[in-house]
Amino acid sequence: MIGVGDMVLLEPLSEDSFLENLKKRFDHSEIYTYIGSVVISMNPYRSLPIYTPDKVEEYRNRNFYELSPHIYALADEAYRSLRDQDKDQCILITGESGAGKTEASKLVMSYVAAVCGKGQEVNKVKEQLLQSNPVLEAFGNAKTVRNDNSSRFGKYMDIEFDFKGDPLGGVISNYLLEKSRVVKQPRGERNFHVFYQLLSGASDDTLKKLRLHRDVSKYNYLSLDSAVVSGLDDAANFRTVRNAMQIVGFMEDEVQSVLQLVAAVLKLGNIEFKPESRCNGTDESRIKDKNDLKEMCELLGIEQSVLERAFSYRTVEAKLEKVSTTLNVAQAQTKTRHKVMGVLDIYGFEIFEDNSFEQFIINYCNEKLQQIFIELTLREEQEEYVREGIEWTNIEYFNNAVICDLIENNKNGILAMLDEECLRPGTVTDETFLDKLNTVCAEHQHFESRLSKNSKFLTDHSLPHNCFRIQHYAGKVLYRVEGFMDKNNDLLYRDLSQAMYKANHSLIKQLFPEGNPAKVNLKRPPTAGFQFRASVSTLMKNLQTKNPNYIRCIKPNDKKAPHIFTESLIRHQVRYLGLMENVRVRRAGYAFRQTYEPCLERYKMLCKRTWPHWRGRAREGVEVLMADLQVPAEEFSYGRSKIFIRNPRTLFFLEERRRQCLQDLATLIQKIYRGWKCRSHFLLLKKSQIVVAAWYRRYAQQKKYQRIKSATTVVQSYARGWQARKLLRELKYQKRCEEAATTIAAYWHGTQVRREYRKFFRAHAGKKIYDFTIQRIMQKYFLGLRNNLPSMSPIDKNWPARTYLFLDGAHAELRRIFHLWRCKKYRSQFTEERKAVYEEKLEASEIFKDKKALYPSSVSQPFKGDYLEISKNPKYQKLNNAVDEKVLLADVVNKINRANGKVRKMNKGLQGQVKASVPLPDLTSVSVSTQSDGFFALKLKEGSASAVKGDFLLSSEHLIEIITKLHRIGATATDREQLSIDISDEFLVQFKQDKVCVKFVQGAPKNGNSVSCKRKNNRLLEVSVPATA
Ligand SMILES: Nc1ncnc2c1ncn2[C@@H]1O[C@H](COP(=O)(O)OP(=O)(O)OP(=O)(O)O)[C@@H](O)[C@H]1O
Ligand SMILES: [Mg+2]
Repeated sequence: MIGVGDMVLLEPLSEDSFLENLKKRFDHSEIYTYIGSVVISMNPYRSLPIYTPDKVEEYRNRNFYELSPHIYALADEAYRSLRDQDKDQCILITGESGAGKTEASKLVMSYVAAVCGKGQEVNKVKEQLLQSNPVLEAFGNAKTVRNDNSSRFGKYMDIEFDFKGDPLGGVISNYLLEKSRVVKQPRGERNFHVFYQLLSGASDDTLKKLRLHRDVSKYNYLSLDSAVVSGLDDAANFRTVRNAMQIVGFMEDEVQSVLQLVAAVLKLGNIEFKPESRCNGTDESRIKDKNDLKEMCELLGIEQSVLERAFSYRTVEAKLEKVSTTLNVAQAQTKTRHKVMGVLDIYGFEIFEDNSFEQFIINYCNEKLQQIFIELTLREEQEEYVREGIEWTNIEYFNNAVICDLIENNKNGILAMLDEECLRPGTVTDETFLDKLNTVCAEHQHFESRLSKNSKFLTDHSLPHNCFRIQHYAGKVLYRVEGFMDKNNDLLYRDLSQAMYKANHSLIKQLFPEGNPAKVNLKRPPTAGFQFRASVSTLMKNLQTKNPNYIRCIKPNDKKAPHIFTESLIRHQVRYLGLMENVRVRRAGYAFRQTYEPCLERYKMLCKRTWPHWRGRAREGVEVLMADLQVPAEEFSYGRSKIFIRNPRTLFFLEERRRQCLQDLATLIQKIYRGWKCRSHFLLLKKSQIVVAAWYRRYAQQKKYQRIKSATTVVQSYARGWQARKLLRELKYQKRCEEAATTIAAYWHGTQVRREYRKFFRAHAGKKIYDFTIQRIMQKYFLGLRNNLPSMSPIDKNWPARTYLFLDGAHAELRRIFHLWRCKKYRSQFTEERKAVYEEKLEASEIFKDKKALYPSSVSQPFKGDYLEISKNPKYQKLNNAVDEKVLLADVVNKINRANGKVRKMNKGLQGQVKASVPLPDLTSVSVSTQSDGFFALKLKEGSASAVKGDFLLSSEHLIEIITKLHRIGATATDREQLSIDISDEFLVQFKQDKVCVKFVQGAPKNGNSVSCKRKNNRLLEVSVPATA
């Protein structure tokens, strides 16, 4: 901490040490210092890095003395007190012009905006509140010699909050604007910012529409010497203002109207008048150049002639100064009670070379503010100690109530005199007003005038004749009376207001409601001084209902420069602001006081005996409380109705304990509530559980019942089935018995009856009829058969169809018998020869049928036997002779060469000769193939004479006949064995030593279907027989 943060703690306390501390801190950029809860703010004239969002967070919700002094600490304290204790607050910012009041008010507002609630709606309200500043400053601030951004109006803003501390809106009250500045500015000063901003910031297009030139020098109302202020960017500010107007809620056409009005004012300044004498001797004013008037009329939609006339007849009297309207105090009334924080930023005390009515008003306002400060912090406080019976040594201070009285006293106050003079009939001038003051106020110690009865100023040359001087709390100010009357009257002649009302411009119309011919009010409007006094008085009353928070701004130098600490200037301010007295009272007094009831109410939870109810008197309760908390006795005093706490630390201690206690209480409430909630929840759950359980049990029982029921039904059905079956069996048995009995009975009865009645029936009639019928049928059958018998040919397959099913067997048997009989008949016709032929054929059939493919073709050929006709043909004489017995068969055969398998016809060359003879007994068997060839092998008995060369392999066209005959001989001859006939496609023959396999294969027909034979090797002889189709 640089120096001492709170002057109350300064040791030793003197004006010098006070200033020294301020300087030390100022040099280290510590511009804020406390006197208790009052904040002293030194204007640094440079931007310091102490207003960042981090700083806001740092000071948020912290105790006032916890951190180094800051305007944020005051703002936080005020906001929290408003939010948590429901106390309306006001922030009183005082100090002379350029001390930093407006900046301080903006800082307070921005801090509150940063810490209060958030949300779309709330943010919008905040923005509107903050953005009202640039708009108001454009129209109400101007550069003066003391301050480049001097407020030329008083501003009081009530910010309204809801119960939780979120801003709802604001009510801004304005106090008497320094209107004369529009038409005339002292040297080195300039008009309201808005004119310069418009000319430098508006686009060419806008300027053209407003019929303006960018050049400031073109306008009489705009002083040339300080049109440009260093560090002030008018063009950028114009954009800011336009944007702010939009945010605040101006519609685009409303903005245009305002700009048109501003342009019209500039135009108005350029209208020049020249005096002209009229023929009746009176003077008249004429407009020199009507171009500006024309343009102004176009802008405002007023008929030129109307305005021209209004100007010509009256303006001389008005001295061209009555242009703008009075900004009355628009104290809006709030209906529902909201928490309110008021921020007061007025024009600071100022002393110019030439001070007029405006400065008088401004300084009066500052007097009143100083008064309220003195009232509340010095006088009230000290009186309260006495009243409450607290031991107290009075501290002297200067009370400026006398000066306020000099100005505002209803009987002989300066404002009352001014009003009186204005209303007085007869010639009244500023001088007559001064005369009046000279008589009425001459004795007043703070009033000085050359011509007053008070002879001590007679020779005072610093006091001109047309001036009076007031010793304000902050210094002496010399006021020139010129213009006092007019400015106080603040009259606008009806012709002018009516001319304005005729304008086809809604804003102008609204600004001059008194111009409405329908509402002519003949009553004289209250004077400016009267209005101001009334509104200041209302303001003071309003401030007194709120908890005050003071920011006392100090201007460190007259150069508007940083780092310069002009001691004399500051000492002067410290003195007139009564800061030393403030410190003294604070040191001796108590930081905090509160009546017993609210005090007990607020802290009763800190002591068991006072919580939750204290039955006795509040004071006793507080005493018990303080004793219980063991607060040292020197830290507090009991007054008659209030408790006084000396040190803020004690208060913080109490607050901290309260906070903790509230937390505990909140926990307790929470605990009980949670317990209750849980129990309710539990009971609900239990109830629900019972319902659920009941339903579930019901369901389970239902299920169980259904299971048992169906099981029972099954068991029952089985039992019933079993019973039923048993019954059925018994019934069936019974029935069978009954049936048996019935049958037996029936038979018995039948027998009985038959026995009894036989004699009455033709016992064998049925059989006889039957036999007869059968006989008839048989007769008919046989007769039909006789008539339809087939032919006697054994090969006739016809046979009449069967007529009766029951004769099926007989019919077939008859057919067989008939066929046998027919064959017998047929055979009986044969001769012996023919019979022999047939026998042979029959034998051939037995041997070959279905065994050799050649057989079928032989059936139709009669067996001739002697094909060569040996006995008759002389060719075979020899042969015939060689045979003794009857020749059974003579034929030409082919012999197959044993060596190569070649076929050779036997009759060639060997005709009639016996080549070889084989006696039958040497012939053991004959082998033939199954195929249609004529090959046959004659197998000879091994070791016989005929078998020397081996078996014969021959081929003949009459193979079947040859073999059959050979077989017959074997069959008939008793001395020989039966010749075996071997039918197979592969058989062995013995050729000399070799056993050769003769194999018959099916081959493709070659050389006209002939059979080919080939000796393949010494073991195989292959005969290829063409396949029969
Ligand atoms: N806290 C600050 N930090 C930086 N500069 C400051 C601060 N306070 C004031 N200033 C500077 O001082 C100038 C004057 O301050 P401001 O306009 O607040 O004075 P004022 O007390 O309102 O004067 P007036 O009574 O004429 O309106 C500001 O324009 C700004 O440049
Ligand atoms: Mg200001």
